[in-house]
Amino acid sequence: MKKLIVGNFKSNKTEREALQWILEFSKNYKEDPQKEVIICPSFTALSAVRKFIDNNNLNVSLGAQNVSSFDKGPFTGEINAQQLYEFCSYCIVGHSERREKFSEDLSLINDKIARLIEYKITPITCISQIEQLGGIQNLDKCVIAYEPLFAVGSDHPQDPGEALKFGKSIKDKVSGPILYGGSVSPQNVASYTDFFDGVLVGEDSLDPSLFSQIVKNA
Ligand code: PGA
Repeated sequence: MKKLIVGNFKSNKTEREALQWILEFSKNYKEDPQKEVIICPSFTALSAVRKFIDNNNLNVSLGAQNVSSFDKGPFTGEINAQQLYEFCSYCIVGHSERREKFSEDLSLINDKIARLIEYKITPITCISQIEQLGGIQNLDKCVIAYEPLFAVGSDHPQDPGEALKFGKSIKDKVSGPILYGGSVSPQNVASYTDFFDGVLVGEDSLDPSLFSQIVKNA
């Protein structure tokens, strides 16, 4: 199975900054058939980054960070899965920041996953504890990202041995790829990709040279 290296820009970077990022990243990027690089910029940058990738024949996949739980229609401000499909092959759902700060619950997360699958977008479904796997529908069509709460955006990654224990019990329950996320850096990435099928990177994905190092070391 290919290693998936996912960069989650969160609410950072204007369209111009995201373009600058992909330009810098592409300069050092050495394609590796064993790895898939997926970057998830804000909605506002998806179109421009998509064009850059296509025009330069870059082997980089695009993901979104959120999706409407509804299909198209009278849902002011929402971006639906059909709209994302023009640009993206992946979308993050159930991130701990959305569960906590936007009160996203299991039923909303399941609706989002269902919309994504309808439009052939692979959900990257985040959980911070094993129990959150319970009740997630279409698990086998998801990439699962295990991200312990204390490790997200904290510079305190989970000890790789500990993470591995959780990773193993997730692998018993799902058949798709499982990622580790939470303070992944160029220095520690290899200790996670030994076991996990890839990583979800926040802070250290914002700098193209750090992210290149992560891709290289993964
Ligand atoms: P971090 O974020 O790498 O900054 O810890 C990971 C995430 O939130 O997906």
